[in-house]
Amino acid sequence: MKKTTLLQFIAGLIIATLVLLFLKWGSEALYTAEAGNESEPAYVIEVDEPAPAAAETSGTGATSEAATSEATTTEAAAPAAEPTFEELYAAADATAGKKVFNKCKACHKLEEGKNATGPYLFGVVGRPQASVEGFKYSDAMSSHTGVWTPAEINLFLTDTKAYAPGTKMTLKGVKGAENRANLIAYLATFSK
Ligand code: HEC
Repeated sequence: MKKTTLLQFIAGLIIATLVLLFLKWGSEALYTAEAGNESEPAYVIEVDEPAPAAAETSGTGATSEAATSEATTTEAAAPAAEPTFEELYAAADATAGKKVFNKCKACHKLEEGKNATGPYLFGVVGRPQASVEGFKYSDAMSSHTGVWTPAEINLFLTDTKAYAPGTKMTLKGVKGAENRANLIAYLATFSK
């Protein structure tokens, strides 16, 4: 009889332990699910595709909407922060551009008619492209038949090889949109 009581007691303990374990496991599962939901918006903003990702994984519409609108705001703000070339050119500083022209001096003169390794740059802003008489342009440059507007010179100086593949001008370009705007403003002061 005593043995049975002891066995009953042990069995009771085991059952009680199992019940406790189940309760603990159940509450942990609930807690983890909630924590997962909370961390979703932060993850969604990082991945750049907020709408589909949030819709797939999140059950709460409110959370995914908040994440979407936040991400959209970030995307819209980024391009607006960078000024356009036109804006930079309107505020350009020709005096600062004189220093940038040091990169060009080895090959270009600013006096009319004086060609060097490159064609003279007097009056280049507003001049037809590849139009200096007596200068032997590359085919790459000759194929450009437009006008050297400030914006066009900016494009050329951003990446000379991309603008005119095979150009004889070996300078890769001028770094910094502001530097280019200042340089072109300086060049524009050399005209009739
Ligand atoms: C290493 C020599 C060299 C340097 C440095 C150089 N250029 Fe040139 N540049 C040339 C040559 C050569 C050409 C003719 C390109 C061709 O025919 O493909 C040219 C052409 C040009 C043209 C086109 C002119 C036209 O009549 O169509 C412009 C504009 C120009 N360069 C601006 C610049 C500026 C601004 C700088 C300084 C940031 C500069 N270059 C630096 C050699 C140079």
